[in-house]
This record gives sequence, C-alpha cells and structure tokens, in this order.
Amino acid sequence: MNGGFPAVRPRRLRRTPALRRLAARTSVRAPDLVLPLFVKEGISEPQPVASMPGVVQHTRDSLRKAAAEAVEAGVGGVIVFGIPAVKDARGSAADDPDGIVQQALRDLVADVGDATVLMADLCLDEYTDHGHCGLLTDAGDVDNDATLARYAAIAVAQAQAGAHVVGPSGMMDGQVAAIRQALDGAGYPEVVICAYSAKYASAFYGPFRDAAECAPRFGDRASYQQDPAAGDALREVLLDIDEGADIVMIKPALPYLDVVAQVAAAVPVPVAAYQVSGEYAMAEAAAANGWLDRDRVIMETLTAIRRAGASIILTYWAAEAARRLS
Ligand code: PBG
Repeated sequence: MNGGFPAVRPRRLRRTPALRRLAARTSVRAPDLVLPLFVKEGISEPQPVASMPGVVQHTRDSLRKAAAEAVEAGVGGVIVFGIPAVKDARGSAADDPDGIVQQALRDLVADVGDATVLMADLCLDEYTDHGHCGLLTDAGDVDNDATLARYAAIAVAQAQAGAHVVGPSGMMDGQVAAIRQALDGAGYPEVVICAYSAKYASAFYGPFRDAAECAPRFGDRASYQQDPAAGDALREVLLDIDEGADIVMIKPALPYLDVVAQVAAAVPVPVAAYQVSGEYAMAEAAAANGWLDRDRVIMETLTAIRRAGASIILTYWAAEAARRLS
C-alpha cells in the first residue's frame, strides 16, 4: 500500500481497448471452428429444427450451399451428420456407399475438396431403428464387440467417400483401434481420427436428438457414455491416443471445462471440445427472450472453451462466429 492506496493495480491493463487487446492471452480464430451440419435423405426442402433456431436438416443441395458459405466464412472444417430414409436394427445405411452421408461427402469433395476439412460423425444411432449407438444383444444390451465391426465398415465407407477425418462418437471400448486398423487395411492410412474420447451421458444432447432423429427408443446411453460424476476422462483419452486417435474431443464443452483443462494439460495431441445442441439452445432461447446478449454470449463461451485449453471447437455458431472474426 502506498499512503493507504494500492500500488499494485491490475486495472492498469484494462484501461483502454488497446491495452486489453495487448494483454489478451486467449484468442478465438475462425480456423479453430468446425460447423456441424445435418443432411437428411429424401426431403426436397430444408427442415427447421424447432429446438435449435437457425439450424436445419439440409437437403443435399442446401448442404452444399451451407458448406460453401461456411468455407467462405473461414471455418476450419465441417462435420456432417446423416439422417437416412430407412433405419434398421444394424444401421445398414451408415456404411452403404450410396448412404446419405457418403453422397453428401462426395458432393462436398467435388465442391470444396481440400479447401476445408471434411469430417464425418461415425456412429450408428442416426441409422438404427432402436436409436442406440451400437448393435443390440437379444437381451437389449449394446453389444460392444459386435459394434466394432460395424464402425470399421462405416469408417471405410466414409474414407472412400472422401472424408479427411472420421469422428467416432459411440463410446464403445476399442473403437479407435478397430477403426484405425480398418482404415489402414483398406488403404486409408492418411485419414485422421478425431475421437469423441470423453463423452458424457448428457441432457444437453436433447435438441440434437430432434435434429438427427436419434433419441433411443428405450433406455438411455448411460451404459456407454460417461457418468458426469465419474473421474474417468483421462483414462478414456489416454486409451484413445494409445489406440491411434489423432485428435481427442471432450463433449459437452461448457459444463465440462474442467475436463477440457485437465486433458489439454496432459496430452500431446490437439484437443477439441463440442459445444453441443443444448448449449446452443439455451443461449438462443434466452437471447430470443431478450434475457441475454446473444452475440456477447457466443464470443464469451467460445473464449472460455479456448481458455480451458481446447484448440478446436465444434459449434453450431461456427460460420457466424468465423464471419465476425475475419
Ligand atoms: C451420436 C452423437 C450425439 C451428438 C453428437 N454425436 C448424440 C448422442 O450421443 O446422443 C450430440 C451433439 C449435440 O448435442 O450437439 N452420434
């Protein structure tokens, strides 16, 4: 203290916008952002998703347009989710070379090619009639090891269609190893695996399940996705890296920033975080009511996720934020 006044004054660095900019340690850049996109088979017009204002289920054509605009805005990549016209017990459409995601990937390869990173979500829940992320046993449990063969086939189909990155999101044990082996065996050693490594059984996926039409018909995902109260994130992440994951992902983002920080401090690979549908819906709903300043909330949450240590962020605001950042 200096005559009763503080000599050390953190506020000095906050006085002008230029000082604050100089003192910043965290930045959000357009190429850090990845835009999730939904493409639905057999529709002729894009369908709005009621619980995600501004998000639609795309036709093949509207998907091309949305991806081109996102690339134009400077995003780092897009990740495609497919909704097939027909679902069955084994999710046959997921690895059909003419399945909706494979068709969409070929469209995007033709349009934007290597100008962006084309990612494909690799899971079964959008494709199975029961809505679970794997094959079921007769007793109705998700059969881990039988599911791995399905994931291997989907990975190869997505690679064949031109995905640069596959994103296994089903949380089966051994999925990354099975997919790496399949990709290498099929002649795709260059295809990247971005593993949803720490993925929690979260209520924040609610709106996504409307968008992707993949809510489980019975039960829940608690026997394969992580328990929010468990301490197994690092174990899951290290296993995935050991099995060949090139990028590891934490999901959801904002309620799990402690996990993002813990993982980012521990691993030598890029860490991604998925700002999920419920995070988006909460902010959009509050903003629509005039309760939150939407634009500031978007940038503040993205900054917080980057500050926690994620280098890549999957967010439904990716194109909009990228436009604002560039
Ligand atoms: C599973 C998958 C889900 C999400 C991404 N991949 C849903 C789930 O696990 O139930 C959720 C993404 C979001 O909520 O935005 N294929």
